[in-house]
Amino acid sequence: MTSIKEHCCGADVFFDKKTAKKQYRQYLKNGPSRVTAKIIRQLTAQTIEGKSLIDVGGGIGALQWWFLQTGGARTTAIDASSGYLRQAEEHADKKAWGAKTHFILGDYTVVHTQVDRPDYITLDKVVCCYPDFKEIIETSCQKARTHVALSYPIDGIISKIVSWIGALIIKLKSNSFRPYVHPVNQIREVFEQQGYERVSHALAFPWHIETYRRVKV
Ligand SMILES: C[S@@+](CC[C@H](N)C(=O)[O-])C[C@H]1O[C@@H](n2cnc3c(N)ncnc32)[C@H](O)[C@@H]1O
Repeated sequence: MTSIKEHCCGADVFFDKKTAKKQYRQYLKNGPSRVTAKIIRQLTAQTIEGKSLIDVGGGIGALQWWFLQTGGARTTAIDASSGYLRQAEEHADKKAWGAKTHFILGDYTVVHTQVDRPDYITLDKVVCCYPDFKEIIETSCQKARTHVALSYPIDGIISKIVSWIGALIIKLKSNSFRPYVHPVNQIREVFEQQGYERVSHALAFPWHIETYRRVKV
């Protein structure tokens, strides 16, 4: 398994400024991606007014911008990619959201201590970028006051083959970042063990999109 430090350095190079600019242009043209739009649909059923969000690995920030436009009080983006984070920060500046937004560069499982507990935590296509799914989900469950929403890939042989091919291509570029297909049942078990119940589920092939609510205080 790649060390977390190597993984995060690799993510910074893999999700670079050029990728961020391209995705930002797509966002301006088409709005949130198909998967992100499904997370938004699930969270629309919850109260957002006056609430706070940590968007882990939030990329160019589509979820954060929706959250603020819907009445959310503040957002924090924690990302291992400096290119994504800078792009998101530029958008927040353009919208004059400086007072409501916060940006932290680094490994979420380490730097999350720099920010207070939020109401919501989102991990949109992030668990598949992290070697230790238990750690990133447990950290989120303990940190969130009420809800954790995430998207992650379906498991099974086809997903694994696609992930292996992706990992090989990235390795050939001498990058330490790796994609992961984690066992779906074990992901769901971690939420259960942490005292969460699933309130929404959707599928946008090859992604599961799920929202969990804290049931144990
Ligand atoms: C596939 S991108 C998804 C970006 C965005 N959420 C979206 O759906 O467009 C994965 C993101 O997770 C970030 N990431 C991966 N591991 C991380 C970690 N340990 N801490 C913080 N961010 C991480 C990457 O830098 C990247 O921004």
